[in-house]
Amino acid sequence: MKALDLHNFVAPCLSNIHKDNGQLCGRKGERFLNPKAIYRYQPDGVVVTIPTMSLNALYLDKDLAESIEGYTVSLADLSEATYQVLEDKGLLLDNCAGGKYIESHCRVSNLPYYAILELTHRCQCKCATCYHWSDLDNYHPKKKDILNRIDSLKRLGVSMIEVSGGEPFLRDDLAEILNYISLSSVFFTVVTNGELMGRARDRLLWGLTKAVSVIVSLDGAEDRHDTARRRSGLYKQIIEGAKYLSANGVKINFIFTVTEENIIDLPKAIELAETVQGKISVRPAKIVGAALENKIKSLTYRALLPYMPHPVISNGFAGNQKDSFEAKFHGCAMPVKISVDARGNIHPCVMDRDLVIGQIEKISPEGLSANLHEISQKYLNNPWCKECKINENGLVCAGVCRFARKFQSKQTS
Ligand SMILES: C[S@@+](CC[C@H](N)C(=O)[O-])C[C@H]1O[C@@H](n2cnc3c(N)ncnc32)[C@H](O)[C@@H]1O
Ligand code: SF4
Ligand code: SF4
Repeated sequence: MKALDLHNFVAPCLSNIHKDNGQLCGRKGERFLNPKAIYRYQPDGVVVTIPTMSLNALYLDKDLAESIEGYTVSLADLSEATYQVLEDKGLLLDNCAGGKYIESHCRVSNLPYYAILELTHRCQCKCATCYHWSDLDNYHPKKKDILNRIDSLKRLGVSMIEVSGGEPFLRDDLAEILNYISLSSVFFTVVTNGELMGRARDRLLWGLTKAVSVIVSLDGAEDRHDTARRRSGLYKQIIEGAKYLSANGVKINFIFTVTEENIIDLPKAIELAETVQGKISVRPAKIVGAALENKIKSLTYRALLPYMPHPVISNGFAGNQKDSFEAKFHGCAMPVKISVDARGNIHPCVMDRDLVIGQIEKISPEGLSANLHEISQKYLNNPWCKECKINENGLVCAGVCRFARKFQSKQTS
């Protein structure tokens, strides 16, 4: 009977994985599960989606799921590891203050819970690293198609939508789309280049307050950011827009896509994040799309060490942690996350624009789960992973992200 992270980016072969040894926690009494989460019931247990800016979900196995009555758990039955993971994720409460639990039900296990939903292929920037600059062809789907896709994602068990693009703020109907997601009882974030944040009013402003967070992308600070994004004055608009939204009750966070050239600006980005009490997820530029064309140089986690640990920074590098706890899935996020482009194509990896596994409106839960499993298996078909015994009894590792430097160096060594 255990609770684990649904997924972490650590490949078991690169880290010490601490397993739940079943030792009981020795605590008594009952606690409530937090109603500020989405509980997805599936044949092999429950997936709990926790509303934060990055991938963050727990998996409760079938025994634990069955022991939960009326959203209360008996502490005496929990192992120390399970107790700690539930406590660390803020899932155990002394009372639930009349909160209403959000439940969903899936007839298939191992469906993704997280989806990037691209609202448009229009964008006013031309970023030096953009992974999908070649398919930013101005295609702009109808609102009804976007709303149908939100219904489809929900049907497929998705409980967290990352609204993206292209540039989502270029849609006049963004307010209605956000409202629809919010009424569907699905958590969402909005990822933006930030230029139009300062113009949000009325229904859009209200819709943005319903987001877990608006996440603003940074490719450096000041002129370096504007040059990388081919958009002069953008950084200044970001500062003004972030302060304006924050003052109006919208949670703001940042993604800093780090390269050899822009890491020097991380302290300035931290200052900006602190003005709006936001956090920064620092991620390496993946060398695909424009980044490949422009010969951008990415970095390893080592470059980040002088800045870490930092209360504002979260680490978005794959596969670098030395110690990690057991998760249901390890390595690449493919088994838990999908991306849907503006034409409704499902990409199991947002960075790999050539890989499509069907149309979001047409695919069945069984088809999606089987496709993700099959593609994850294919990714393991390299000399390093072929000998590995980790996946003998079912897929738990999809290989560390193919775009991670560590993985690439292993492949070529
Ligand atoms: C494609 S953008 C779409 C949303 C919006 N236009 C923006 O720039 O925030 C989504 C995120 O991917 C990041 N991104 C783009 N190309 C990347 C790459 N090659 N490697 C890593 N992240 C990348 C962007 O900086 C942004 O944070
Ligand atoms: S990263 Fe975002 S802002 Fe930049 S070109 Fe791509 S979609 Fe546009
Ligand atoms: S499948 Fe590959 S990446 Fe995953 S643990 Fe095994 S060798 Fe490592």
